[in-house]
Amino acid sequence: MSKLWGGRFNKETSRLVEEFTASIYFDKRLYKQDIAGSIAHVKMLAKQGIVLPEEAEQIIAGLEEIKREIETGQFQFNPSDEDIHMAIERVLRVKIGRVAAKLHTARSRNDQVCLDMRLYLKEEIEEINISILNLIKSLLTTAQRHLEVILPGYTHLQRAQPVLLSHYLLAYIEMLKRERDRFQDCYKRVDVMPLGSAALAGTTFPIDRHYVAELLGFSQVSTNSIDTVSDRDFILEFLSASAILAVHLSRMAEELVLWSSQEFDFIEIDDAFCTGSSIMPQKKNPDVAELIRGKSGRVFGNLIALLTVMKGLPLTYNRDMQEDKEPLFDTIDTVKPALKLLAEIWQNIKIKEKNMLKATQKGFLLATDLADYLVTRGLPFREAHQIVGEMVKYCQEKGKELENLTLEEMKGFCNLIGEDVKEVLDVKKAIERRRAWGGTALTEVKRQIEHLKKELK
Ligand code: ARG
Repeated sequence: MSKLWGGRFNKETSRLVEEFTASIYFDKRLYKQDIAGSIAHVKMLAKQGIVLPEEAEQIIAGLEEIKREIETGQFQFNPSDEDIHMAIERVLRVKIGRVAAKLHTARSRNDQVCLDMRLYLKEEIEEINISILNLIKSLLTTAQRHLEVILPGYTHLQRAQPVLLSHYLLAYIEMLKRERDRFQDCYKRVDVMPLGSAALAGTTFPIDRHYVAELLGFSQVSTNSIDTVSDRDFILEFLSASAILAVHLSRMAEELVLWSSQEFDFIEIDDAFCTGSSIMPQKKNPDVAELIRGKSGRVFGNLIALLTVMKGLPLTYNRDMQEDKEPLFDTIDTVKPALKLLAEIWQNIKIKEKNMLKATQKGFLLATDLADYLVTRGLPFREAHQIVGEMVKYCQEKGKELENLTLEEMKGFCNLIGEDVKEVLDVKKAIERRRAWGGTALTEVKRQIEHLKKELK
């Protein structure tokens, strides 16, 4: 079949070339944006007297019919349609005849594809931000439900100090809040209307780009036609925000995997989010969490892929840039369900608070508190640190915990230790002592929660 750009060619395109260059297999998901963009464009052409009002009406009616056909599965995508832009224009021509050929006045696929991608990404960012918010809410609910549950906090994956589970979950919320900021910031750069830059130099027609922006709900119009058709920063930024998001989701998933292991036994993930083994009947595996962790790899890869595509390109549009789509779509398709699944996992999680508390009782988690106590008795911190270190060594030799030492034993290490040391070696009290801004004390966590609730409103 002859191409819409076939005028200067003597030969048909080879099948291999068609297959190799086509993006229709994946860019058909931009049909809605492509049609919306074309409708706005032709409305503007009519307003500016570049096409007749009745021509615009015919074109719009044809485009709307095509949209319906795509949505009901009646639209015949053709293997020789290079991309979604060509497919729609080809069928428009069949539907309304020669007038269809006026639609592409004062535009190029180079600015058209930017428009489609920007419209598409604006919607997706909004959806992702809602999904992040839902995950935040789910973590917040879980935190409030288990407000006073205590577990060991870790450094180097070694038990370090007791913390509140609610404080722990709020840490993830902080990460997710930064995520929302990043996506919202990225949105500003996506929300720029590119159409009218045409191939690269702008157009000879008296178009009104601001009118198109207004029709399509863009808050800005791009300033430089050369930059506009060359630029994929807005996608890179999105992929980069997504990569950071994927890091965080992966770390959260890792924690779910660890905590649900028999070694930790801190949580039970609901059956609905686990799978079994084909050979070991007893197994309940945290596959969803594992895959969220595993799929972070492709999200990073997608960022690297597009950075690499872009790095050597001269201005302006180069066909290489068609390679922006699959990484973008794949990242969106990976990140969105991961967010939804994690929200549900936390919503339905079983917290084994007894096991969490038990884990704080072994491993000298209050050693820092004991050193701090000696400081209040007048010892410089480094000396206190040294003495408690020796007490820990002694405990390890005797198979004891700090709180099992007698007062006499303790005094042997430092005679500043008094009866009141009992208070110090109490996990709950240790939490309460960490009242400084951002610490794990209940009052502090409650303050953080109140603040969050206000922010989320
Ligand atoms: N399918 C192309 C892409 O995604 C559309 C733009 C093609 N422009 C061109 N002059 N061949 O980048």
